[in-house]
Amino acid sequence: MKRAIFPGSFDPLTNGHLDIIKRSSPLFDEIIIAVLNNPEKNPMFSVEERCELIREILPEIETGKCDLIVDSFSGLTADFARKSGAAAIVRGIRAVADYEYELRMALMNRRLEPQIETVFLVAAEEFSYVSSSLMKQVFTLGGRVEGLVPAQVEAKMREKLKS
Ligand code: PNS
Repeated sequence: MKRAIFPGSFDPLTNGHLDIIKRSSPLFDEIIIAVLNNPEKNPMFSVEERCELIREILPEIETGKCDLIVDSFSGLTADFARKSGAAAIVRGIRAVADYEYELRMALMNRRLEPQIETVFLVAAEEFSYVSSSLMKQVFTLGGRVEGLVPAQVEAKMREKLKS
């Protein structure tokens, strides 16, 4: 049984994240989408809201025999990966600019938990510029983000803006 975690802030989930989940699903039997509880970062969505949104969207994607689980965590990703019994940490690379930061994290996580490998997957070109923070900024300023985030995410961002 090969288990991986896909950690992130997911504030909110984008189509780029979904692309990475789809791409990683043939490699593992189970992937835990691990949502970081980071209230100090002043997220747009609470960790509960982010998990709920992801749980609503995941059934729509085709992942074959791979089970997808949504969970939240606080503290170190490496600790969460070990406690989950994961063999790997999945991260997406969109462009060269991501690599330096991701490499530092992968090396630190390996130092903390040497038996857990980081697996980098290359995101689809069409999502190479998509990040949660860019989506929030553009949407908040009245720009269109359709096709870049799931429709449910767009609807929830609209609700947030109104409230
Ligand atoms: O989606 P993000 O914001 O790029 O995800 C970053 C994340 C959550 C993977 C990273 O910030 C993280 O692992 N945070 C948990 C704390 C931790 O383990 N820090 C040391 C990383 S080497």
